[in-house]
Amino acid sequence: MAEYNITLMPFSRRFVCRDNETILAAALRQGINLRYGCRQGGCGTCKALAVAGDLDQSDASTFALMDFERDQGYALLCSAYPLSDVTLELADYDLSELDEAVGQIREYQAVVRDVAFVTHDIVDVQLALVEPASMNFTAGQYVEGLVPQTNEWRAYSMANPPSQSGVLEFLVKLIPDGLASSYVGNKLKLGEHVTISGPYGRFHLRKEPRPALFVAGGAGLAPILSILREMAETRDPRPSIFFYGARRRRDLFFLDELYGFENRLPDFRFVPALSETAPDDEWEGDTGLITDVVARKVPDASGWQSYLCGSGPMIDAALPVLERSGIGLRNCFYDKFLSRAESISLGGATGR
Ligand code: FES
Repeated sequence: MAEYNITLMPFSRRFVCRDNETILAAALRQGINLRYGCRQGGCGTCKALAVAGDLDQSDASTFALMDFERDQGYALLCSAYPLSDVTLELADYDLSELDEAVGQIREYQAVVRDVAFVTHDIVDVQLALVEPASMNFTAGQYVEGLVPQTNEWRAYSMANPPSQSGVLEFLVKLIPDGLASSYVGNKLKLGEHVTISGPYGRFHLRKEPRPALFVAGGAGLAPILSILREMAETRDPRPSIFFYGARRRRDLFFLDELYGFENRLPDFRFVPALSETAPDDEWEGDTGLITDVVARKVPDASGWQSYLCGSGPMIDAALPVLERSGIGLRNCFYDKFLSRAESISLGGATGR
């Protein structure tokens, strides 16, 4: 096995990458916090300019890395294997971001402690970690789970706060014919042993205490819930609002806890909204697409930061709304949940 040096400019930071691992995997293994999202060549978050050296990029999709970008020397670091020493130009990083502490990524053995339907198509799963017995992670991060009897991994965000490090909680949306979600919905049993790996992801609450605007839809609640639970534990004083979108009343869950944060946090408001109400919903709250509700309720959010979690279309629709309300894109942080179908159309292989 060959090993190559990867140099990150302008920081002159250097790390070693084996020829059988991607540059991103090698960086994370060595505690270097490069940007990434799907880790499967589908989202483009890990794109960087290779100014010297040779790379094997045959796994990169032409959607996330277009031919002209490839010709200019850009690479998707999550699917680029070094063929020589490589120098990357990270023009828009700063050093503190690169050195930001990330939990150590490793495999964990766990046992299923609870499986409960919280709506007709969302299952709350709790896993007790066995070996190692706890995970050090940041609220907002996710793990990948090995789907039993397959070689496929699927990503799920933790809903529990980091203080609850021995039992991890996940919200699994049941997707018709979804490999992992079908298993969870039909077969997963209490006491069953599962393998997970993590923690992954860079979606987390920023330390600077700017007002926070949270937006989520469906199972996108999980990482926001982890963040809110931690904020409640520390009585985080920043003003915050959580907009949570669902189709029908039957799709909302954990409402007592979510409204309860208004008492547990010094300055917090919860705004659920339904996009497809029917008379039997008996709903007197906000209605419409969650992005429209945000636009109506927060016309001016200058100085705020926003944290979004949900489907690709929801996030794509929310970003311009937030920009119009005065939140620059550099203060919008998001975790896009790609469905299997979306990720395949992107050329990647993520999906839940
Ligand atoms: Fe590399 Fe998504 S993280 S393309």
